[in-house]
Amino acid sequence: MEQINIYSGKDVISKVLIDNDVETLASLLEPYRKVYAVMDSAVAADCPAALEIAAVLNSKGAPGMLVEASEHEKTMETVLKICAWLMEQGADRDALVLAIGGGITTDMTGFAASIYKRGVRFAYMPTTLLAQVDAAVGGKTGVNFDNYKNMLGIIRQPKFTFICPSVLESLSSRDFLSGAAEMLKSFIIEDGGWYGRAVEWLKGYSSTDAKGTYLQENVEELSALIGTAVSVKAGIVSRDQFEGGERRKLNLGHTFAHAIETLAQRKRMESEDAPDITHGEAVAMGMVLAAELSDAYRRESGEPIVQENGFGWGLEQRLEADFLSCGLPIGCPFRLSLMAEVMRKDKKAEAGKVHFILPFAVGDVRMVDMTIDEVVDLMS
Ligand SMILES: NC(=O)c1ccc[n+]([C@@H]2O[C@H](COP(=O)([O-])OP(=O)(O)OC[C@H]3O[C@@H](n4cnc5c(N)ncnc54)[C@H](O)[C@@H]3O)[C@@H](O)[C@H]2O)c1
Repeated sequence: MEQINIYSGKDVISKVLIDNDVETLASLLEPYRKVYAVMDSAVAADCPAALEIAAVLNSKGAPGMLVEASEHEKTMETVLKICAWLMEQGADRDALVLAIGGGITTDMTGFAASIYKRGVRFAYMPTTLLAQVDAAVGGKTGVNFDNYKNMLGIIRQPKFTFICPSVLESLSSRDFLSGAAEMLKSFIIEDGGWYGRAVEWLKGYSSTDAKGTYLQENVEELSALIGTAVSVKAGIVSRDQFEGGERRKLNLGHTFAHAIETLAQRKRMESEDAPDITHGEAVAMGMVLAAELSDAYRRESGEPIVQENGFGWGLEQRLEADFLSCGLPIGCPFRLSLMAEVMRKDKKAEAGKVHFILPFAVGDVRMVDMTIDEVVDLMS
């Protein structure tokens, strides 16, 4: 079992455990007297590993609650339902609340556990790639509010995050690739050769119809990729838990992505036929836009544009080519002026400026503060 720690100074504040055996969950729950499980209903219905997870929970006498994982349900109302259920169950301050599901389930459950009785302990068993490499690591919890993503929330660390890569077998390829975008993001921030390895793995995944078999046969390399992506995030969070500086790098592509998600959600409220966009898809599009902005910024400020590993062009084209070969979407469906309107309200804007994370090259991202007007000028 691989263990990656998250620190505050010298103290371990959260542990990430990676092991392909679901049974490992039983030993991780051992120290906790009373466990309350909140599970994504789709995981309970579709994921073969859910039976093994249920057996572990039953042997622990842990009651369970099912939640629906959709952005529409990622609200304060659902958080209050989880709190009401914990009250009904008589959960006290000794409780450990275990979330089993993707990022929506872990974000909501972590938030509910953080406000219930002024905060009880919680842990995660993420069941999507996105949650394994990102959402369930680092302590950000929260819900959507007033049509804005993750507007209410708190940073509080889970006791542990248990990553079992084989549970991803039942994930749809769309959801799998959504997580792949966040994994690639980690390697664009810190490379060490892993970006290329991830692209190769994902090319194989997206080019086969037998995705479950491909995942099983290549699960060791996938576990190594997940472990390294988690180490990148854990290192950054350990150095800057509350996002005063370096942690902002993890927002690569996210200012654009949040605008894309907000606009997509608005469109879907107008018409149910409007296409939905997953978080990871929005992040992939957002990273391409960030690379476009970065190329434009460097051209404007006279900085040389690095030739990307023999690619005789800027980073935008390299990311586009790589993402396409991995099966990720790259074309943003919204006009820049519409995106700008939403980005002006970004919760991370300070004094009219947004900390944009610009990828200068794979493995080299830098923070540049810009107003949205400056961004629009550069990208027009
Ligand atoms: N807290 C953070 O730091 C952080 C970071 C990134 C993203 N997020 C949040 O994470 C959310 C996206 O997470 P996500 O992509 O995991 O979404 P999700 O939780 O909606 O899961 C995606 C879909 O996969 C299904 N699913 C989950 N596990 C499955 C499995 N093993 N087999 C079959 N189906 C399964 C879910 O029911 C859902 O339909 C967003 O709300 C985003 O804001 C949070």
